[in-house]
Amino acid sequence: MFRKLLVTSLSVLGSFNNLSVLAADEVLLERGAYLTEGIVACGNCHTPKTADAVPIESMQFAGGFVIEEPAFKAYAPNITMDKETGIGSWTDEEIVRSIREGIRPDGTLIGPPMPFLNYRNISDRDVKAIVAYMRTIEPVKNVVPKSDYKIPLPPNWGPPVGNVAEVSKDDPLAYATYVATTLGHCNECHTPMIHGEYDFSRTGMGGNRYVGIFGLKITTVSANITSHKELGIGNWTDDQIKTAITDGIRPDGRMLAPAMGFPYYKNIDEQDLDALVLYIRSLKPQPAE
Ligand code: HEC
Ligand code: HEC
Repeated sequence: MFRKLLVTSLSVLGSFNNLSVLAADEVLLERGAYLTEGIVACGNCHTPKTADAVPIESMQFAGGFVIEEPAFKAYAPNITMDKETGIGSWTDEEIVRSIREGIRPDGTLIGPPMPFLNYRNISDRDVKAIVAYMRTIEPVKNVVPKSDYKIPLPPNWGPPVGNVAEVSKDDPLAYATYVATTLGHCNECHTPMIHGEYDFSRTGMGGNRYVGIFGLKITTVSANITSHKELGIGNWTDDQIKTAITDGIRPDGRMLAPAMGFPYYKNIDEQDLDALVLYIRSLKPQPAE
């Protein structure tokens, strides 16, 4: 709170001195830390974990573990700022492009399961905030094997992104959709797939199987998070939904498997948790009643 006040009072000191530039940088960095360590959870794929699925702090963003599906064996790369084995020599613009368009500086396309269809809508401010925060993470030397895709990758993940404006909180459902689908890519894991494509007519219905997810020796199936009263979570209270997201505990006391990023989701603030609940409640019950 004090830090917030300090930042605000610094930024009213005048727009043409260094202090206000510093203050603006600090606000951006705080936003980046909040997003990356929270709803966006890049580390859920890029940070190796212990056998109990706890992210290994000294290896933050160092990559190396494998995500295996029938169509691919993908290694999450080292995205620390190490110049040789990470992405330390990429410019801010190049990192932004890799996140939103899935294109590396050498022009090659980055493969799944990094959720580009979702990330392409990250606002200019938020993607810059994420990159600013990435620059503060300790560089780690760690060589990661190349991914192996048994399916052909598309030529690109969509047209060039250009500029993306902020989504206003004055439109609660638009903001909720931004938090849940763009930043959190909840819809990706929780939407059924047909022939390798998401079936968005059944968004939230779940049923995707994850075998050995994040290198763990478990198989888990994504849950139905639509408002269906028996098969979905239509009977859960707002607080029960929030506890499942932040703590991984269902209303019946069962612990959820660690495919969701609980070590990160616990940092989501109350306003964005309300947004996630609003988004979930907006999903039509599936299967259709
Ligand atoms: C669902 C898992 C997943 C999430 C979440 C994810 N990534 Fe990735 N990312 C991957 C995989 C897998 C690759 C490698 C794909 C390949 O080999 O083509 C990758 C590749 C990258 C690359 C290219 C690195 C290189 O050297 O080629 C960058 C940069 C990157 N991710 C940054 C991020 C950032 C920043 C975030 C959060 C905003 C993020 N990723 C979230 C799985 C993920
Ligand atoms: C990497 C894939 C993945 C992502 C991303 C993901 N989830 Fe999940 N989620 C799962 C899986 C798998 C389960 C079921 C785990 C289990 O049964 O133990 C689950 C369970 C849940 C549950 C509990 C439902 C029930 O009936 O048990 C809720 C609520 C939920 N997710 C909401 C979300 C929200 C909100 C987001 C976005 C912030 C999200 N999930 C992102 C994979 C994911």
